[in-house]
Amino acid sequence: MKITIRLIVSLTLVVALVAVGSSFHQVRKERLRLAADMERRVVLLAESLRESVVPLVRSDSREKLDRLVERFGNRERLQGIAIFGRQADVIASTAELKNRIPRSLPQVVNSLEEGRPASAFKQIEGKRIYIFAFPLVQEGETIGVLALFDDASYIDVRLKEIWEYNLLRFLILTLLVVVITVLVVRWSITGPIAQIAAWARDLRMGRGKPMKPSPRQDMLGPLISEVSHLAKSLESARVEAEEEAKLRLHAESLWTAGRLKEHMRAELGGGKLFLVSNREPYMHTKDGRNIRCVVPAGGLVTALDPVMRVCDGLWIAHGSGDADREMTGEGDKLRVPPEEPAYTLKRVWLTKEEEDGYYYGFSNEGLWPLCHITHTRPTFRLEDWSQYQLVNEKFAQSLLAEIAGEESPLVLVQDYHFALLPLLVKKERPDAKVALFWHIPWPNPEAYGICPWHQEILMGMLGADIIGFHIQFHCNNFLESVDRFLESKINWEQFSVTRGDHATSIRPFPISVSLDLSPSVADSPGKEASRDKLLKEHGVQAEFLAVGVDRIDYTKGIPERFRAIERFLEKYPEFLERFVFVELGAPSRTHVKRYRDLQSEIEEMVEKINWRFQTKKWKPILFLKAHHSHETIAPFYKAADVCLVTSLHDGMNLVAKEYVAARADEDGVLILSQFTGASRELKDALIVNPYDIEEMAEAIAASLKMEPAERSDRMKRMRATIKEHNIYRWAGNLVTELARLRLPPA
Ligand code: F6P
Repeated sequence: MKITIRLIVSLTLVVALVAVGSSFHQVRKERLRLAADMERRVVLLAESLRESVVPLVRSDSREKLDRLVERFGNRERLQGIAIFGRQADVIASTAELKNRIPRSLPQVVNSLEEGRPASAFKQIEGKRIYIFAFPLVQEGETIGVLALFDDASYIDVRLKEIWEYNLLRFLILTLLVVVITVLVVRWSITGPIAQIAAWARDLRMGRGKPMKPSPRQDMLGPLISEVSHLAKSLESARVEAEEEAKLRLHAESLWTAGRLKEHMRAELGGGKLFLVSNREPYMHTKDGRNIRCVVPAGGLVTALDPVMRVCDGLWIAHGSGDADREMTGEGDKLRVPPEEPAYTLKRVWLTKEEEDGYYYGFSNEGLWPLCHITHTRPTFRLEDWSQYQLVNEKFAQSLLAEIAGEESPLVLVQDYHFALLPLLVKKERPDAKVALFWHIPWPNPEAYGICPWHQEILMGMLGADIIGFHIQFHCNNFLESVDRFLESKINWEQFSVTRGDHATSIRPFPISVSLDLSPSVADSPGKEASRDKLLKEHGVQAEFLAVGVDRIDYTKGIPERFRAIERFLEKYPEFLERFVFVELGAPSRTHVKRYRDLQSEIEEMVEKINWRFQTKKWKPILFLKAHHSHETIAPFYKAADVCLVTSLHDGMNLVAKEYVAARADEDGVLILSQFTGASRELKDALIVNPYDIEEMAEAIAASLKMEPAERSDRMKRMRATIKEHNIYRWAGNLVTELARLRLPPA
């Protein structure tokens, strides 16, 4: 209300000021105009009378003069005429003036003395009279004065009218200002604010999912978006607190974002967490004239972004987006995520040569197929190895510059792109606590040993204080490789390797996702509503929906999956026109020939299978090849009756866990390859051998025929596993172990 009153008072004052000012001006102009008009009229009359009056005054013909003045004295507004002699004495006047003329009139005296007209306004008997004295001159001598008395009160009347009219105008204007101000304030400010307040209150009280007010016009849009963020944070905090409370009752302890935050604060003691990876969590790319911020596909980013959001650390990664430089600030840094900055990203720039040799070459044509047993032969080139060494050195320098002022900094190095980095860092900073987490499998010593630089890689990795893999089996493979190729002391009980005076622990840390989903996932519509909508958008209809979400990579078993779908339709024709499989495939590493070939192979297969089975309104496979955001993928997860994860070999595979995390409705079936790390934890999935096409076809049929109660039981158990073994536990365990390490004195 206060703001309305303030607005009304200010606007009224302004209107009043303008009204008074303009009225004054108008009245002044009108007064001058009317006075000039009156004067002109009186002068004309006086001049026309003069000819007749002068001879009569000269001859002192008073009677004639009386008649003359009587004849002219009653003209429009004229109150009377008087003629004065040389002594300023009245010698003739109209009847109304008799006895009313003041004794001495200065205008008459002045006119007599100076021989010039004189005029003035005078109040006579309560009336404003204009007196005009005109000298009667004959042969250069003033022989008398002709005085005209005109009624000037009409000027005051007219001016009063103007004031009254303007006052009325002012009052109407003020009324309009009040009404419009009240309406505008209510529509645009107080109304929406009241709506937002009610919405925020409902959110605060946890009353379901109240309708978000529409950001009517632009003005309150930013406020609504800020409150939205706030509300979401509040909501997650509440959910987390409820979870914690429930678990406290059961004497358990669940890792949550909040708990990890507190834990990090305690473990880091005010220090920062430093993370190094090849892939950046936010990539800026050009989209016509605009710049888009993209979250790259892949498990590493999915897993680590929530951790960094909680820790507010520094993430160093390759700036690979074509608009990255434009969006990066001082020191090659920027705060991310863009919509709710929580930590710092430092971008390292690579030349084309470096990227070709280190990333495409040694990492993805060498180490990737070396570690994944998928029968794709690794390629090792000396030139790629040189670039790999140089880029590891480059990232090490970038990290060393950042940790220069930190005492015993905690560093998390990610993945096979940086096998050499731990040793490079530790050489310079033995006090740094370094963990290397290897996101992909580790092969057996025979397979590993074909890499020409197998010793250098092991030595580089063993610079770390902790090396983490997803599962124990990969830890075992790694230790066996060290045993086979390096001189060192291996403690099989402690799972550690000692070389010189430096020890490295080898531990399984199964990575995961967070069950409290991102708002985009949580807010997307449920199963029935979205299935029809999603399929309709692509011009198909079906009763059952299955989904696959992958980077297009030969380790993911995508052709095997399609073969299984084909076989399933052959064996179970009753599902023709009732079942659709949607593959959300993100193109990946397309500069590598093997990946380009795979894309063509997949496209041909989809074409062939669809051609074989499709009808007018239906086809069995939709291959949506694009970079899909979490917001696009979420509705598919929520609508799919089945999710197929058929990797031929996979360190963990977070798609499997994301699918389970998205199924808050406790429905849906997961078909999961036995060669993923995830299959060790998600035992209620239908576990399959992706090379066994018959088995996979049967699993698809079983998933579609499964009783709802069984589906729900399995999903509940898988969700319970992920709830407990979530990404916060992963980070908490890894950081705790790292922070509590006792390093030998330097
Ligand atoms: O999971 C292994 C991994 O290399 C991750 O490091 C990364 O998130 C993912 O595959 C995607 O690969 P790239 O970063 O080469 O696109």
